[in-house]
Amino acid sequence: MGTWRIGEAAEKTDSEIETIRYGLDHDINLIDTAEMYGNGASELLIGEATKCYDRSKFQLVSKFYPYHATPDLIKKSLQDSLRRLQTDYLDMYLLHWRGDTPLEETIAGLEAVKKAGYIKDWGVSNFDIDDLKELASLPNGDNCKVNQNLYNIESRGVEYNVLPWQKEHSISFMGYSPFGSDKNAYLHPKEIVAELAEQKQITVFQLLLAWAIRNNNLLSIPKTSSVEHLKSNLKAVDVEFTSDELNLLDEYYPAPTHAVPLDTI
Ligand SMILES: NC(=O)c1ccc[n+]([C@@H]2O[C@H](COP(=O)([O-])OP(=O)(O)OC[C@H]3O[C@@H](n4cnc5c(N)ncnc54)[C@H](OP(=O)(O)O)[C@@H]3O)[C@@H](O)[C@H]2O)c1
Repeated sequence: MGTWRIGEAAEKTDSEIETIRYGLDHDINLIDTAEMYGNGASELLIGEATKCYDRSKFQLVSKFYPYHATPDLIKKSLQDSLRRLQTDYLDMYLLHWRGDTPLEETIAGLEAVKKAGYIKDWGVSNFDIDDLKELASLPNGDNCKVNQNLYNIESRGVEYNVLPWQKEHSISFMGYSPFGSDKNAYLHPKEIVAELAEQKQITVFQLLLAWAIRNNNLLSIPKTSSVEHLKSNLKAVDVEFTSDELNLLDEYYPAPTHAVPLDTI
């Protein structure tokens, strides 16, 4: 479950909490957040929603700002996130995007909080292929377990080099914004998507999500604050595509045939 923009409007709190709990009650076992989201409001709401759940049954992923990427500031950000999330550890802690702090320092900070038991593992976000290679070349850089990048039918660049490289190096891929973010700001589905969805008797949202996870090789983290939307999105897991359908979508949204700069939000 993605959680950007939750916890920011009092009138939505009940529905946001209900949605997270519905997800945890229906086999979703990972929640993605960040100190950036609502300046901690997302983490606060998640803490409230999950406090009565068995912590060992779901994973919490959070992220720190690039300007908090030194060992001291990582520790401080992490402690604040843990307090807001009402937990004593994170399953995964990510550098939200690359900033000016040398990666060596960030790795050292992450290894220190891992050793202290505050996080199980660490990773990065919005890293392109060259960033990943540089990271892997540094001391303990190969302890990176995850890279989280934009991935949806319109933003397929990572298929060319990032995804294969991560697979080769056993780094999991988390794809964000499968629907193109709030109000489809970063994805304007072409007519073919609605037509194919209608043919398959599914919604456009189900099609987009099912497409993102079609190869079962990455984790997609859609966000919703509505139980009805979540119920519908969960059905995407059972949607299958024929090769003709995938080929048709490829015609309108071609797979990359060369390296392209990383798409981000
Ligand atoms: N690492 C990064 O830099 C980065 C960047 C962006 C996002 N992320 C992570 O990825 C998560 C997902 O990305 P996102 O939040 O940008 O966008 P998204 O998941 O692509 O789209 C979320 C939007 O889709 C709507 N929606 C979801 N299901 C729907 C349905 N069945 N019918 C109609 N509308 C539906 C949501 O509204 P409702 O709430 O009303 O359903 C919301 O407006 C984020 O929440 C965050 O955790 C990470």
